Amino acid sequence: MAAGKGTRLKSKHPKVLHEIGGKPLLRHVIEAAAKVVPAADVYAIVGYEADRVKAAMADTGCKFIEQLPEQLGTGHAIMSGREQLEGYDHFLVLSGDTPLIRPEILQRLLAFHLQQGSAMTLLTAEPENPFGYGRVIRKTVGDKIGNEVQAIIEQKQLSKMQEQIGEINSGIYALATKPVFDNIGKLSTDNPHKEYYLTDMAAVLNKSGEKVVAFKEDAMAETLGINTRAELVRLDAQLRAAKTAQLMNDGVTVYKPETCVIDADVEVGADTVIEPFVQLLGRTKVGSDCRIRSGSVISNSTIGDNVNVRQGTIMDDAKVESGAIIGPYSHLRPGSEIGANAHVGNFVETKKVKLGKGSKANHLTYLGDAVIGEGVNIGAGTITCNYDGVNKHQTTIEDGVFVGSDSTLVAPVKLGKGSYVGAGSCITDEVPPDSLAIGRGRQINKEGWAKEKREQRSRKS
Ligand code: UD1
Ligand code: CA
Repeated sequence: MAAGKGTRLKSKHPKVLHEIGGKPLLRHVIEAAAKVVPAADVYAIVGYEADRVKAAMADTGCKFIEQLPEQLGTGHAIMSGREQLEGYDHFLVLSGDTPLIRPEILQRLLAFHLQQGSAMTLLTAEPENPFGYGRVIRKTVGDKIGNEVQAIIEQKQLSKMQEQIGEINSGIYALATKPVFDNIGKLSTDNPHKEYYLTDMAAVLNKSGEKVVAFKEDAMAETLGINTRAELVRLDAQLRAAKTAQLMNDGVTVYKPETCVIDADVEVGADTVIEPFVQLLGRTKVGSDCRIRSGSVISNSTIGDNVNVRQGTIMDDAKVESGAIIGPYSHLRPGSEIGANAHVGNFVETKKVKLGKGSKANHLTYLGDAVIGEGVNIGAGTITCNYDGVNKHQTTIEDGVFVGSDSTLVAPVKLGKGSYVGAGSCITDEVPPDSLAIGRGRQINKEGWAKEKREQRSRKS
């Protein structure tokens, strides 16, 4: 169920697209579901901003059920899926705002449901503070409380006595299709929100003589849904903590892990050291024996072994081979491929660039749309002028080239193997291999000029 607006987040965006651990809530839920049944048997019920939610989940391979034009509650969400769901004997219902649910729990819930032969099996929990959740009223058999459930009562409708009940409804269920759809028409909107509550199905099924049971899980946190920003941030912190703990278990040193933001799918090799305030995002892969220094933010990038990423480096969709040194304050934009043992230094920006093995661009440089060979030295302040205002053009710098400081290379242009470019040059023509190119005004020295100027000034005063 992912059709709600998420009023309590006070957001114009759909709740299920808010992120924890760098991924939308709904994606966590779909990924868990797709480990229990094939992705093509997972349906996301969408309503509020349906198109946006669909687009964001398209690559999961799940199907969609539309709860449109109105979203009249969780019971109504299931009504909207009648046609699709009637193709199955049983189905699991998950909430799009319960992202920490683990597939093993779903498997256990399903097995219990089938073994009990019940029409409705609810996953329940006993959190420290049950406030806000629907409470589970179990039936008593003789003087014993059994598995069977009488009803689920939402917070706002609890009597004083019922408020004492600690067992909550997680919003995750296993349901038998036939009894559910035979009876779902009996749901009413007679409640404070004027909605069709799926939770009322417990009482409805009971009245029709169908079996409703509770399946209580002790692993609490994972069944808690997110309704507020504070809960969103708390679960995010929990996921991040679990991720850094797992990395440390695998041999990675993470200093001050509570300050690092590392997404779930990130991989890091053993003996790599991650300093405080580092972010490793998306599909980033870091090799072993690297050091990632403070303030670096690395997304969707691949880094080899023994790489030193110095302070404040930003990388997006970049590739860095083993032994390279990057930063401080380098900006590697998409398509940057930095070769083994190469250096990219302070305030150097790269984009769609191949920098060959052992080449260096250490200071204040922009390299865009360029193929740069091995053993090249790019002097401080070098700029590839890749854009003419309409099109982008390519710069080719062959092996062993030395570009003097403050040179502008006006693309398309090629610097031949082993050539030199004099400092301060504006290079507009191809430089032949092994030659020296100088593209600047000649220097003139006017002997005695400054002295003369000073004397003139003192005569006047
Ligand atoms: C629900 C349960 C409550 C339970 C809690 C657990 C009901 C009435 N109450 O309350 O017993 O303790 O979850 O977290 O079900 N949705 C739709 N269409 C709608 C309305 C909601 O798809 O018309 C989706 C939402 O996007 C959300 C999920 O259903 O992902 C749950 O809805 P929400 O409004 O968050 O229910 P709660 O008030 O948390
Ligand atoms: Ca909720």
